[in-house]
Amino acid sequence: MADKKATLTLEGEAPIELDVLHGTLGENEIDIRTLGSKGLFTFDPGFTSTASCESKITYIDGDEGILLHRGFPIDQLALHSNYLEVCYILLNGEAPTQAQFDEFRTTVTRHTMIHEQINRLFMGFRRDSHPMAVMCGVTGALAAFYHDSLDVNIERHREIAAFRLLSKMPTVAAMCYKYSIGQPFVYPRNDLSYAGNFLNMMFSTPCEEYKVNPVLERAMDRILVLHADHEQNASTSTVRTAGSSGANPFACIAAGIASLWGPAHGGANEACLRMLEEISSVDHIPEFVKRAKDKNDSFRLMGFGHRVYKNYDPRATVMRETCHEVLNELGMKDDLLEVAMELEHIALNDPYFIERKLYPNVDFYSGIILKAMGIPSSMFTVIFAMARTVGWIAHWKEMHDDGIKIARPRQLYTGYDKREFSSQLNKK
Ligand code: CMC
Repeated sequence: MADKKATLTLEGEAPIELDVLHGTLGENEIDIRTLGSKGLFTFDPGFTSTASCESKITYIDGDEGILLHRGFPIDQLALHSNYLEVCYILLNGEAPTQAQFDEFRTTVTRHTMIHEQINRLFMGFRRDSHPMAVMCGVTGALAAFYHDSLDVNIERHREIAAFRLLSKMPTVAAMCYKYSIGQPFVYPRNDLSYAGNFLNMMFSTPCEEYKVNPVLERAMDRILVLHADHEQNASTSTVRTAGSSGANPFACIAAGIASLWGPAHGGANEACLRMLEEISSVDHIPEFVKRAKDKNDSFRLMGFGHRVYKNYDPRATVMRETCHEVLNELGMKDDLLEVAMELEHIALNDPYFIERKLYPNVDFYSGIILKAMGIPSSMFTVIFAMARTVGWIAHWKEMHDDGIKIARPRQLYTGYDKREFSSQLNKK
């Protein structure tokens, strides 16, 4: 909605009137779309002050530490819902009735198997490949197996592709793990929950029945809920950008996975665990905190800080509780958790972190939980990608439903001015 105006005045030129938009919640946003036609562009590397789209899916108030999916607070969803219900909410906008949920769950559950030939595709990867590299490649390759749902202009095709991705991603994720440890792939089981089925595909073998522990199943489900969506972060923006050209959904999600892999984004939980292992003892914390504050040292405290949250990440609060639940259930007294708790305490009381509003984020705890469950750190970002797939799809679908415009940012060119070319080849 626009009911205010902003005026932009360039020295010596007539003022330009711009609409000021405001959504249901959040900041005022100046509509600069008309500037391009006047030969003016705005400069905002990293999009720190730019809204790239309109969206009804997720709202974050970083100063207050609020995260809402379709209006529902994340802590309520984490405690009183389950991942598939959250998926329904993200994709459809409303909480499902029991009948709607049953139908949704049945559709997801009945499409978890992947084309048998994909098994052979895995064999092309080295066993020691990072599972994210494999996941990225296999997800992109799904387009080669499911051509019948690739016309992004047909709503039904978009629907089918959405279900396929949501259903098959745990299967692909678990296969990445099984392949890396040389064990046979485990087929999905329709009698288990989304999280339970994933744990079974990760840990069961043909030699031994695996009983899904309900506490770990609940914890895994919660990890999935807490990572399901986070509005226009780097990977979601990547999915939207890739999709804006009309690219097929499997290619777009593969692009999202590639973006998520970076240590400043989804790779942070793996990096955080590595950091806790490197710190290894509470006695070493001051030395690492000192390094994190040193401008001449590139070291950062992994799992701290967030582009949007300048308050406690609401997901971290739930994750912290879940972390304790899991460690209690497994009867583990984890040294890393002790280091993590002390690090959290020291950082939260240090003026450097207080002034910069650097709080623990969701990745600070998720790595400890996953490690306690017996999941290797190389799989952490894979699980994040599996959870985030629904958010990526919801944004990709919203973009198509609203009508796409190809993403084409401008730049501030600081290279050479025009100059004459004279080849230097074959000159002595
Ligand atoms: N440790 C030490 N100092 C930090 C940290 C950190 N983790 N994060 C930010 N700072 C400092 C930074 O040096 C800068 O200081 P100064 O003002 O003196 O130059 C100030 O805080 C602002 O930092 P910034 O880089 O401008 O902040 P940003 O919004 O661009 O970066 C971030 C956000 C998440 C990339 C960054 O905080 C970071 O690298 N954190 C560690 C990685 C991490 O945990 N990432 C997971 C994010 S949550 C999961 C997800 O959504 O993907």
